[in-house]
Amino acid sequence: MIGNDLVDLAAAAKESNWRRKGYLQKIFTETEQSYIINSPKPEIVVWILWSMKEAAYKIWNRESGMRSFNPKAFECQICQICENTATGKVYFGSAEYLSETIINTAFLHTTCRNHDYIKPLFTSIACHGSDIEMRNHIIRDKAGIPIAAKQPEAFISKSHHGMFCSYLSTFKLK
Ligand SMILES: CC(C)(COP(=O)(O)OP(=O)(O)OC[C@H]1O[C@@H](n2cnc3c(N)ncnc32)[C@H](O)[C@@H]1OP(=O)(O)O)[C@@H](O)C(=O)NCCC(=O)NCCS
Repeated sequence: MIGNDLVDLAAAAKESNWRRKGYLQKIFTETEQSYIINSPKPEIVVWILWSMKEAAYKIWNRESGMRSFNPKAFECQICQICENTATGKVYFGSAEYLSETIINTAFLHTTCRNHDYIKPLFTSIACHGSDIEMRNHIIRDKAGIPIAAKQPEAFISKSHHGMFCSYLSTFKLK
């Protein structure tokens, strides 16, 4: 399975004051806090970790059918971080998810998968409003989870924030 999460960096800077007292401690484990504090770009690392947790949550929620708001229980390990990419792992109980993040000046986008051999075959990141075709194609199931109207066998993950939206699929969307 796959899960994704997108963060519009300008919107995040406006909406969330992650430097406020107690915020990091509430959301992030001590290891994660040390990634943030020791980074020359803490404002990027905060959102990389956040998006890793959200993308992994989307997979866990689908697999388990359960809901949770326990960000610290999704424990992130950053394996490599460069100017425009980051890779890592997210652990939740006995589950392990692999993550890949792309980073640019406008947004960052994380993809998680629960197996090495699973690859998203379709990725689309667009400005909100230019995704009308996708919006018509992707519907929600009873649990609110996105599915492709004409290809229910495809695993879809969707994310939107600020000016951007992203769609991932394990199948080529027709
Ligand atoms: C459900 C949740 C993951 C959605 O994330 P979000 O950042 O608010 O929103 P996104 O734009 O990334 O994703 C929304 C899309 O995800 C899909 N979605 C909704 N619920 C979903 C679920 N349980 N599993 C997978 N996908 C889901 C839908 O397609 C939705 O799009 P829609 O609103 O157009 O139908 C989030 O609200 C949540 O409950 N998180 C709690 C988990 C947690 O502990 N997070 C820690 C963060 S540090």
